[in-house]
Amino acid sequence: MGKIKLAVVCSFGLEAVVKRELIKMGYENLFVDNGWIYFEADVADIAKTNINLRSAERVLLVMGSFQSETFEELYDQTYSLPWEDWIEKDGRFTVNGKSYKSKLFSVPDCQSIVKKAIVDKLKQKYQQEWFNEKGAEFTVQVSIHKDRAVLTLDTTGAREGLFKRGYRKDSVLAPIKETMAAALVELSFWNKDRVLVDPMCGSGTIPIEAAMIGTCTAPGLYRHFASEDWQIISESVWQDTRDYYESLVDEEVNLQIYASDISEQAIKAARSNAKRAGMDKYITFKVLDVKDYVLPEKHGVMITNPPYGDRLGDQDIVIELAKTIGNTFGSDPTWSNYVITSYEAFEKAYGQKASKKRKLFNGDVKVNYYQFFGEKK
Ligand SMILES: C[S@@+](CC[C@H](N)C(=O)[O-])C[C@H]1O[C@@H](n2cnc3c(N)ncnc32)[C@H](O)[C@@H]1O
Repeated sequence: MGKIKLAVVCSFGLEAVVKRELIKMGYENLFVDNGWIYFEADVADIAKTNINLRSAERVLLVMGSFQSETFEELYDQTYSLPWEDWIEKDGRFTVNGKSYKSKLFSVPDCQSIVKKAIVDKLKQKYQQEWFNEKGAEFTVQVSIHKDRAVLTLDTTGAREGLFKRGYRKDSVLAPIKETMAAALVELSFWNKDRVLVDPMCGSGTIPIEAAMIGTCTAPGLYRHFASEDWQIISESVWQDTRDYYESLVDEEVNLQIYASDISEQAIKAARSNAKRAGMDKYITFKVLDVKDYVLPEKHGVMITNPPYGDRLGDQDIVIELAKTIGNTFGSDPTWSNYVITSYEAFEKAYGQKASKKRKLFNGDVKVNYYQFFGEKK
């Protein structure tokens, strides 16, 4: 098989972070479009990107893109694509869809047309009238935006996006997605030689992702991806890719990562999640109210995700916590402090205007990522 086209999908606002990860992995000529990053690749890159990307949500194989204003066009263009190169005789396939600002606005109709075109194509290629659909999972997505359709196959897995690393079995209320936690660390000035603190760590996602970054542990090393069951990518490709990323893990690195929370149950969950991720030996856990925090040393980095107020506790508590964080971590100008929250008046309560403020989405919730450096005025 020759070159293929991949599209890595990420949460809005994280395109630059994911692009940086892809560049670091050696990809070039990346085209960014609204949460999608397109690039040319080889089949083996499906394994490489799924296993190693930290902040992206999923990796899609782009089957084709075309102008489509009528159902006939959608059917014909879909039929013309080489589905049989990928979808096996017994492939289990579903079609998802979305349409935005387009003449073909009925998503269920678009899904049925696409499904019919693919089934007709497979019938013709396999000379078979009926498919038992008991084999590997192939999730097709038809996305139509301003009359341009993009047809993709989900290489990651429809139900289990890249955020599902597999370690977070114990959770507290309102955990942050693993992919977002990794992005927060990547957007910070933290490196493995600096102290990292999350004083409201909940189930431990931010410290665990930081430890994985610090130890160079690829986040997808120990999980399964839908495309691992596809015959077109041989088992040895997956094995070689895993072997390669395993060889990069630095188990001897000395990390100073501190995770605390007022809730004993949260610390218990965080500890067992970290153990499952193989990261427990890099993180010091403690049950602690943030108001009792004493900074361990100079030049540390604090990254946290306090209660949002709309989901946990009330707004007075949110304001009080922001003040506490500001007074504790903002009091030392050598620290770099980062807070993700949906509370709009956070800077006022923290007591400092953020040096940088980035708009992100935590799931469907609009949030800001505040970055505070230097002296508090
Ligand atoms: C939104 S959750 C953090 C979720 C976490 N990032 C995760 O991925 O699971 C907020 C956390 O703040 C903790 N918290 C609330 N008040 C606190 C306080 N005064 N001191 C320390 N932790 C506190 C809660 O117990 C909760 O676990």
